[in-house]
Amino acid sequence: MKLKSKFSFLATLLVVFIISGVSICWFIAERRYMINQLKENQVSLVDGLVQVSKEYLITKDQILLLNYINFLVHNKKIVYVIFSGVDGKILAHTDIHRLGETDKTIVGIKAIKTEKLFIQSYQNKKGKVITDYALPVFMERKKSGIARIGFSREELNKAIKETVFQTGKRIFGITLVGLIIGILGSLILAQTLTRPIKKLTSGAKMIGKGKLDTIIEVNNKDELGALAKEFNLMAFQLKELDQMKQDFVSSVTHELRSPLTSIMMYIDLFFKGATGELTEKQRNFLNIMKNSSKRLNSFINDLLDIAKIERGKMELIKEPLNMTTILQETIQLFNIQADEKNIKIYSKIQENIPVISADQNKIRQILNNLLSNAIKFTPEKGIISIEIQNISEYLQVSISDNGMGVPPEDLEKIFDKFKQVRGVKNKIKGHKGTGLGLATVKAIVQLHRGEIWVESILGKGSTFYFTLPKVK
Ligand SMILES: Nc1ncnc2c1ncn2[C@@H]1O[C@H](COP(=O)(O)OP(=O)(O)OP(=O)(O)O)[C@@H](O)[C@H]1O
Ligand SMILES: [Mg+2]
Repeated sequence: MKLKSKFSFLATLLVVFIISGVSICWFIAERRYMINQLKENQVSLVDGLVQVSKEYLITKDQILLLNYINFLVHNKKIVYVIFSGVDGKILAHTDIHRLGETDKTIVGIKAIKTEKLFIQSYQNKKGKVITDYALPVFMERKKSGIARIGFSREELNKAIKETVFQTGKRIFGITLVGLIIGILGSLILAQTLTRPIKKLTSGAKMIGKGKLDTIIEVNNKDELGALAKEFNLMAFQLKELDQMKQDFVSSVTHELRSPLTSIMMYIDLFFKGATGELTEKQRNFLNIMKNSSKRLNSFINDLLDIAKIERGKMELIKEPLNMTTILQETIQLFNIQADEKNIKIYSKIQENIPVISADQNKIRQILNNLLSNAIKFTPEKGIISIEIQNISEYLQVSISDNGMGVPPEDLEKIFDKFKQVRGVKNKIKGHKGTGLGLATVKAIVQLHRGEIWVESILGKGSTFYFTLPKVK
């Protein structure tokens, strides 16, 4: 899982957890408050009835009491309103038929006895559950009557449900908005935090690929900024070290070159008889010396080429070039080597291959390297085929062999300097090489604005392709 996804996931989880937790607590508290509020409302209605009943007892004017009862009747939650004397005689009732009656119901008898707010629930004859609120009416500290209101439990529950639903809806809306803002916030935060890490990663990749002048631009003033600074410093020091290494290699190779040239020259003089007639044994020894010196010379040339490429100092001397001729000459040159291993080289050259503008020596270098690799990594009695195709804006050359092939994980790497497929050296006879050939070839192809790639099946063979543009 990517760091950004991990961080976004955790931050989102935290936001969801906190906001949901807060919302649930808020909802519970709000619900409790609403229920209490409803209860207080009911008590205040009974309290109102007590006040109006007191007025009635003082003035004996029934109008006010009846008006209040009429007003209460409109409330859907109220089933009945009763004001009775301490003897249980009903002085006012929502049902006028019961006026003057003595309330003998158990609820009524219990209510009369109370000295303070008394709440009881019961089921009436119609099967409805009623909650009866009774509050005594005191006149000059003397209990003078009982005010009672019967509330329908069903309606009360409905009212509670409705308020709870409305509250829930409101809290849900706010929670949703909070969640959206929170999740967006955590995504933006994850993006902001991981952007410099991404930059550091791609910078490290570039440095790993050898681009030591890479500078990572992270302007953060935090630990990531400090890390980027250290990274840039490290890349700078690596570049200095690399430069020192390059300087060292090129001075060593230059120093080796002059004595080697004179060794080779003197070997040639020996062969030409400058020191008299040579015996067979002397010729053999001198041949070995000549071959070793040639190899050392070509290694030095490869090192110098790579150094030139790395410094951007390799230059092309372009001239009109007939690829067909150059290819045929190269094949002829390598036929001797191929014969030694009983390898056949076939060529397939399209007609009318146009003359292109390229550096002849460098193109020969490409073909030499690819062909010598093909022979080197193909066992005896193998087959090598070379093809030139004229494809729209470029020429495409391919060199195929049925040799040992390259493992898929190494297909990219073999074009890097000093990279050779692991264990390959033990499988080949003779000169093992140093892994500079393909790096030089790739640089030369790219200098010509062409492309190079390889297709290979391990154990079956490889085909190296390169293109050269036709335009100058
Ligand atoms: N035709 C091929 N078949 C199989 N493997 C190949 C082939 N060409 C190249 N390789 C692999 O790629 C590696 C790099 O090739 P490259 O030409 O750069 O180096 P080299 O041939 O080992 O040494 P040098 O070219 O410096 O003498 C080789 O060591 C080999 O493992
Ligand atoms: Mg090679």
